[in-house]
Amino acid sequence: MLVRLLSSSHALRTSARLAQGSLQLVTSSALRRGLATSLLGKDYPRDDWTNVTPAITSKLPLRLHTLPDHPLSTLRSLIEQHFADFSHLSSVSPLVTPATNFDELGFAPDHPGRAPTDSYYVNRGLMLRTHTSAHEVEVFRAGHDRWLLTADVYRRDEIDGSHYPVFHQVEGARVWDAGLNGMREVAEDNEARRAALAAENIIIEDVPHVAPTNPAQSTHDPAHAALVAENLKLSLNGMILKLFGHAAGATKAEPLRVRWIEAYFPFTSPSFEVEVFFRGKWLEILGSGVVQQLTLDNAGVPHKIGWAFGLGLERIAMILFSIPDIRLFWSQDPRFLRQFAQGQLTSFQPYSRYPACTKDVSFWVPQGASLHDNDFCDVVRDVAGDMVEDVKKTGRTSLCFRVNYRSMDRCIIVKRGGLVLHSQVVSRLKEQFAVEIR
Ligand code: PHE
Repeated sequence: MLVRLLSSSHALRTSARLAQGSLQLVTSSALRRGLATSLLGKDYPRDDWTNVTPAITSKLPLRLHTLPDHPLSTLRSLIEQHFADFSHLSSVSPLVTPATNFDELGFAPDHPGRAPTDSYYVNRGLMLRTHTSAHEVEVFRAGHDRWLLTADVYRRDEIDGSHYPVFHQVEGARVWDAGLNGMREVAEDNEARRAALAAENIIIEDVPHVAPTNPAQSTHDPAHAALVAENLKLSLNGMILKLFGHAAGATKAEPLRVRWIEAYFPFTSPSFEVEVFFRGKWLEILGSGVVQQLTLDNAGVPHKIGWAFGLGLERIAMILFSIPDIRLFWSQDPRFLRQFAQGQLTSFQPYSRYPACTKDVSFWVPQGASLHDNDFCDVVRDVAGDMVEDVKKTGRTSLCFRVNYRSMDRCIIVKRGGLVLHSQVVSRLKEQFAVEIR
């Protein structure tokens, strides 16, 4: 079957994909099934890059972050309240070009995130955004100086209680005129925010900035870049306090602990990640930094300077609403939905836990091909959807020997004896080594 596929007219394209380490059986069968993928009411041609599955495309219209009373919607509005004077955008289409998602933001041509094993492609020229940063250029171009954008984002991933191929991010950004007036405005804003935070019960660990590995950009005055980075940190510390302050039980005895860590993103420099100490563990909650000038140049506002951040809503909502499994966000069950009211941080009360049923599968991958874990997981999701709690490699050693039975003087061995002898070999293995025959 596979041989026939590979020798068909798709052979070249399929083997090009194999070279990227992914067995694109999905592509081949999709090509055979039909020529267009229907997304948000429009048809898009398929090609050898197509790897979106119906399980994924069915999520596009749902937009959980806009559903009244949904925890993701409450979290979005809490963040919007903190950035009350920002533009709030939440209905931008998830269909973007790879240029928008990657190139315009300075991703290297060989960045692993571009691989079809990691991202969902509608076709070679169109993909599902992998992050809300994909919209930075267009939002800056539209003239917004301070904005939040909330949206669904898509990444191929493993299956477990905290990963889902669709999740939600909030992107936030603020820019100023890079001239002296703009910088005076930043300094004044910093002062006000510093004073407000000083009164709060929060401990902020800021790992000292190591310039050579995480430098200010060459086109920036280092003093201006430092003012902008400080504004970023002050603005986000305030937001984190608002979100986690009472959830984390920040009392005089136990203040909220936040730490800023040096990071790397292609579209910010310097870049930082933020972690919050919650129930005994440091949790990474967002990425951020001073916006790369390339982004602002591409947006037609080269005279601006500013910061941007991106955070994942599910991660934070799981903590704030005590939601134990990421699949629950997609639940239509009133026992889930009825527990939440817009604007309120309530703790989820689990309503059921049914018995699990695990099944193993093992298989040969065709010669010369490889099968990425994400290819397997997408098949499972497409068939079983949210019925699957997790997929794990068993971690056990599996051996397969092929015994070639051939008599030197009789032909009987192959016909009858081979089977008998082989079942004896199998029995002995079980007896002697306690192996489990698959
Ligand atoms: N887009 C990044 C991510 O998805 C987060 C980020 C946004 C980092 C903006 C820096 C600035 O991980």
